Amino acid sequence: MLITNARLRHREGLHALHLENGRIARITPQAEAQGQPAGPDDLDAGGNLVVPPFVEPHIHLDATLTAGEPRWNMSGTLFEGIECWGERKATITQEDTKTRAKKTIRTLAAHGIQHVRTHVDVTDPDLTALKALLEVRAETAHLIDLQIVAFPQEGIESYRNGRELMTEAIALGADVVGGIPHFEYTRDQGVSSVKFLMDLAERSGCLVDVHCDETDDPHSRFLEVLAEEARSRDMGSRVTASHTTAMGSYDNAYCAKLFRLLGHSGISFVSCPTESIHLQGRFDSFPKRRGVTRVNELLEAGMNVCFGQDSIVDPWYPLGNGNILRVLEAGLHICHMLGYRNLQSALDLVTDNSAKALALGERYGLEPGRPANLLILSADSDYEMIRSQGLPLYSIRHGQVLMQRQMAQVQLVGE
Ligand code: FE2
Repeated sequence: MLITNARLRHREGLHALHLENGRIARITPQAEAQGQPAGPDDLDAGGNLVVPPFVEPHIHLDATLTAGEPRWNMSGTLFEGIECWGERKATITQEDTKTRAKKTIRTLAAHGIQHVRTHVDVTDPDLTALKALLEVRAETAHLIDLQIVAFPQEGIESYRNGRELMTEAIALGADVVGGIPHFEYTRDQGVSSVKFLMDLAERSGCLVDVHCDETDDPHSRFLEVLAEEARSRDMGSRVTASHTTAMGSYDNAYCAKLFRLLGHSGISFVSCPTESIHLQGRFDSFPKRRGVTRVNELLEAGMNVCFGQDSIVDPWYPLGNGNILRVLEAGLHICHMLGYRNLQSALDLVTDNSAKALALGERYGLEPGRPANLLILSADSDYEMIRSQGLPLYSIRHGQVLMQRQMAQVQLVGE
């Protein structure tokens, strides 16, 4: 397959991408491909952007599509969400979890996402959801590459047999070690949970992704513990801190000191701006905090940050349709990132930065020899994709068309 008239980010002019045997064989200037006869499968990108697939770095596929079951989260807080989920969790079955997760994966694939990291609640003596997602990972491999995080929703230290369940989840095949230190009963438990999970990751060779300081409490400071564990063990490239919303409430003096450690640690950050603006700020009257981490400030300091959806129709967030570009647009607003420079590189937050957080390495990116996974978008720049609320027109996976979309045709009648 040949993809012609492709505009590539960070490269001048138009290009042709030659795909062979599921890999990118060559990328040439468009002029060099001009004389070649068009094959039946060739696609003309028409001067629009061609990018590697979108990445969903943070979602909860075990909880998806359960909002209102058995009751709605009336306060809108994270903590009532955890209570609602605790009630729904008692009724989950493997089949129920698989059906909902697969339905959501199809909506993600329809929006050009081909790499997904899902957290799966392992504070369940039977590990029902984990076993379901392990099967889903194999059964949906034609649509997405799935990383599974062993996520202790109700704590490692403050949940009965929490350490054993985490260890078992990794032994069963989870890819990533999770955590939730700010939810443990005490600060000491939060610290010991981080040390435990980093030990487990170091022993098993797994990646790490911790729900870290997902609160407006400025005294929630487990990020420094996680970053120091990553730095001292030289594991930063394998470690992600998700949410870190408390950083939005830290004072600048503390943050200045913290940033030095964060920079040395080399860890990545995931922000879920639509979820956080909904869940955080709930204990404020006015003025109300935004409840998101310092996305632009981390980026400006040279750190790796990406955006995730977190939830689709679950006890924590009632909306969502799989479109990560909706989260990107909202996030740029919420994080004060509609400046010219931010808009030029906005797609980094749902492509390259996310791939780095997921440690995808050479499995990702538009380079010869890498998998022929890519998107043809509906606009010719990052800025125009955001402004026009663009969408992927084609998603190509292993050199085959996985999804195609026609944009709505609208006419002003009588003009
Ligand atoms: Fe989450």
